[in-house]
Amino acid sequence: MTRRAAITGYPVAHSRSPLIHGYWLKRHGLDGTYERVAVEPATAETFYREFAKSGLVGCNVTVPHKEVAAACCDVLDDAAQAMGAANTLWLDDNGRLMGANTDGLGFLGNLDQNAPGWVGRCDTALVLGAGGAARAIVWALVSRGVKKVLVANRTLSKAQDFADRFAPVAKAVSWDYLADILGRSDLVVNTTSLGMEGQPPLDLDLSPLPVDALVSDIVYAPLVTPLLQAAHDRGNPTVDGLGMLLHQAVPGFERWFGVRPEVDEALRNLVLADLGVAS
Ligand code: ATR
Repeated sequence: MTRRAAITGYPVAHSRSPLIHGYWLKRHGLDGTYERVAVEPATAETFYREFAKSGLVGCNVTVPHKEVAAACCDVLDDAAQAMGAANTLWLDDNGRLMGANTDGLGFLGNLDQNAPGWVGRCDTALVLGAGGAARAIVWALVSRGVKKVLVANRTLSKAQDFADRFAPVAKAVSWDYLADILGRSDLVVNTTSLGMEGQPPLDLDLSPLPVDALVSDIVYAPLVTPLLQAAHDRGNPTVDGLGMLLHQAVPGFERWFGVRPEVDEALRNLVLADLGVAS
């Protein structure tokens, strides 16, 4: 029987997930579909509680339903528990609804593919921003054994709220001390929306940063953000944000369709073309 999965959320029209999973389904010649299912907020709790009735084997969850979906799951993985939010759901053999948060794994998969060996060179990571993406990345860095994860945010209290949960490894730091912190960072990750098309650039003087420190951005439109360009120009290795989007999709596909898919150049180019972003 055709196995059906979907992106669920509200709205879902902008999601690139159907393109990504559609590519893998075709590539592996599988009898499956990946659809868009708009779940109105008023019906979200019922939808996820009664997920088995949807006819789907599993789904991705996007805004604004990641928290409600997590609350409706019977079992959550470590990342979803830590974040109180799930982006990947599936029914197990006993009909239980399982939930995972794969954003952090997507971040790690991207660095592993594009900066092999990075973790052995990373004692101190600096995460800029304190939204949902920052949370996933801090979880990921802590779970990989990075010794110190510093979180800087315009609104310090938001960074403190969740850095405390990953203490003593994670620690909130004031944006005012960034120059000093950059000087002892091995990895810098921008998780804010600054640098995205239509947004101002992240205004950060990189001069104190060691030239071998890795710089990454979760923004992927444009693919080379002003931060990545500035880092590249002074000789720092960089990893763009598109790989995180692609790698976070891998665990769901494997659960639903039974094949672990590859993030390859053809997929990258397909998504870049759809985004209208130059590669
Ligand atoms: P997401 O869940 O996708 O990570 P978010 O919750 O909207 O997105 O978080 C956006 C992040 O970008 C926040 O850390 C935000 O800082 P605040 O917590 O102070 O709002 C940061 N951000 C957005 N615009 C910013 C700006 N102009 N200057 C500095 N930080 C900014």
